[in-house]
Amino acid sequence: MSSEAMEIDASTERIDRISMKEGGYYAAVSAGPRAVVDGLTDRAIAAVSATGRIGKDEILVIADFGAADGLIATDLISALIDSVRLNAPDQPIRICATDLPDADFRPYFQAMSLPDSYVSRNRNIFATACGLSFFEPLFAEGELNFGFSASAMHYLSRQPAPLGEYLHSVNVREAEAAPFRAQAAADWEAILSARAIELAPDGRCIIAMLGLDEQGRHLGNTVGSNMFANYEAIWGSLADDGLIDDDEYLKAAFQQHFRTRQELEAPFLAGGSASLQGLELLGLESQKVDCPFHTQWLRSGDTQGFARNFVKTHRSWTETVFTNALNPRRPAVERQQIIQELYARYEALVRQNPKRHRKDMIHWIVEFRKTASPPPRQRRPSST
Ligand SMILES: C[S@@+](CC[C@H](N)C(=O)[O-])C[C@H]1O[C@@H](n2cnc3c(N)ncnc32)[C@H](O)[C@@H]1O
Repeated sequence: MSSEAMEIDASTERIDRISMKEGGYYAAVSAGPRAVVDGLTDRAIAAVSATGRIGKDEILVIADFGAADGLIATDLISALIDSVRLNAPDQPIRICATDLPDADFRPYFQAMSLPDSYVSRNRNIFATACGLSFFEPLFAEGELNFGFSASAMHYLSRQPAPLGEYLHSVNVREAEAAPFRAQAAADWEAILSARAIELAPDGRCIIAMLGLDEQGRHLGNTVGSNMFANYEAIWGSLADDGLIDDDEYLKAAFQQHFRTRQELEAPFLAGGSASLQGLELLGLESQKVDCPFHTQWLRSGDTQGFARNFVKTHRSWTETVFTNALNPRRPAVERQQIIQELYARYEALVRQNPKRHRKDMIHWIVEFRKTASPPPRQRRPSST
């Protein structure tokens, strides 16, 4: 192919603003998110039991919102099915993994077709996927019994403002963070409004939401260095060294916001949008899960391996942000080299002083239920 043709290809390439690395890569390197999900298993079992649907002559519908490749929550879902089967050996159960339109669900369906999957081991389990945003209802009115979501709903429906030399709203001053705060509030209301429509009476949701805890801690910023500040410095160093231009430097940004307790609580207060739509807040607690790669390094002392695996685990969700910031007219090989260089620099930083690097996960665990009041009839206007 001529270089001109390659340039045209690159410029018309479909580019997603939010996506994980495909082909099961995300699940393969995501020990931290998996630990968060596995840690919620007992709570999820209790929530499903509290829906009152187990053993009824109706289907039980369970959703994993923002499931990525669908593999992270398979153990949790499997445990939920086992617990339901104790009292309802044949009740039909529909599991729906949801994510954005370009999510790669192939690893999920491949896993479901294996002989030891929860679909193969049980009768009447229906595994499905939905490639549409969780800002809209994805189920018919009153169809959903239990909704689960982990490490996904901190993503915003759009990037409300540029962040300049910063990559994340958590690092900017209040004036620059305000549009992100407002977008996050509107998006949270949209998420809750959609669930208020979908949930059956007594249906429940558990959401593990990456956020800002009471001590000001967030993902990758507990003790030691701040992961997002490290990315800002390294991305800046690529610009200083002339590897990326100013437009590319300024374009990279995470379309995310880390919400506070007050921000999550607001719609549930008296007169708030969620409470008016019949949602009742049952729990809201912050939680820290230690970085498994750092813990492993403390045990093994293998600094090379730590640097490599630690960087890989965030590469799974940061790479598309940086790749999308690069000028698509650059040849693909050149874009790959820049991305390789970015992560090589991060690995070198970790090797220099490994004890300063960790990606502890700070979540708010939000649990709510739909009360028996009639569901709202009207769809909310789209927030996007
Ligand atoms: C960091 S991954 C988390 C995956 C998995 N739930 C876990 O616990 O590890 C975040 C996922 O949220 C998805 N996501 C972001 N915005 C979304 C939206 N509006 N609707 C559905 N999924 C979304 C992303 O595509 C991505 O797969």
